[in-house]
Amino acid sequence: MLVKSYLCKKVDMNSSVLLIEQKDGIFFLTINRPDALNALNKEVFDALEQFFKDKKNDFSVKGVIVSGAGNKAFVAGADIKEFIHLDSVEGAALSKRGQDIFFMIENFHAPVVAAVNGFALGGGCELSMACHLIIAGEHARFGQPEVNLGLVPGYGGSQRLVQNIGKTRALKLLLTGDMITATQALEWGLVNEVVPSGEEKVSAEVLLQKIVTKGPLAIQKTISLVNDFFNKAVDGFKSEYEDFGYTLGSDDAKEGAAAFIEKRKPSFKGK
Ligand code: CAA
Repeated sequence: MLVKSYLCKKVDMNSSVLLIEQKDGIFFLTINRPDALNALNKEVFDALEQFFKDKKNDFSVKGVIVSGAGNKAFVAGADIKEFIHLDSVEGAALSKRGQDIFFMIENFHAPVVAAVNGFALGGGCELSMACHLIIAGEHARFGQPEVNLGLVPGYGGSQRLVQNIGKTRALKLLLTGDMITATQALEWGLVNEVVPSGEEKVSAEVLLQKIVTKGPLAIQKTISLVNDFFNKAVDGFKSEYEDFGYTLGSDDAKEGAAAFIEKRKPSFKGK
């Protein structure tokens, strides 16, 4: 059953291209360029980077939901009109910057959910994949159409698509530039849930409301452990036994075990 979204508070760092609202520690980011189908330009990158930098060590943030303004697009890609004038060196720098911002999202301490309310193409598909979970509206469409422009993906798409749906399916999408439906994306494991159009954000919130009842340290470490699997420089099994020990020694784990034994709900403090 869906819960109704109550009124959110606007946050100070709002910019016109990235609307930021907050409710009970859950931040709602809306990329707000509906006339350009929310394409990612420099201003959007600046605002996203600022938000994730500012909140990097802010453990009062319990979760983040990212969506696009309007009901047609989540994000239709990098802003083609902006990058078309760049040379190779500038292009590589743009791509590196996009990757770095998306790494900040992927490594964020609290879960980030993409509420995909329409086209998620190119940089938009890449943004959704940098998030930890994806809720897609029935009308959502996913794809990496860069080859149509004579380009390769620039914000991690050639890597995360393979991680998320496997080489065979990823190559088909990357080489044809085809879009897939939300249902196909669910079947292929690209998204977590498909919901009726218009319910993406509220469904993302329902999912986060469940996660915020869990031990915050455990959530934080779980995100980091799963990311370790893809980090060739790190032994994820070693990280796991270290983090198991770390969480076991935490007040949260003591509270979790006590609550289990006393048959009550735990009250975690994130310590
Ligand atoms: N960049 C800049 N503007 C964009 C845009 C983009 N990625 N996508 C859409 N727009 C703009 C259009 O130019 C148009 O603006 P005007 O009204 O000023 O002409 C407006 O948004 C509406 O778009 P359409 O008229 O094209 O809408 P449509 O319903 O006919 O088609 C669409 C929708 C299929 C999504 C189509 O807009 C489209 O193909 N967009 C481009 C998708 C794309 O190629 N994305 C990848 C970009 S490259 C990339 O992202 C590289 C990377 O990995 C870093």
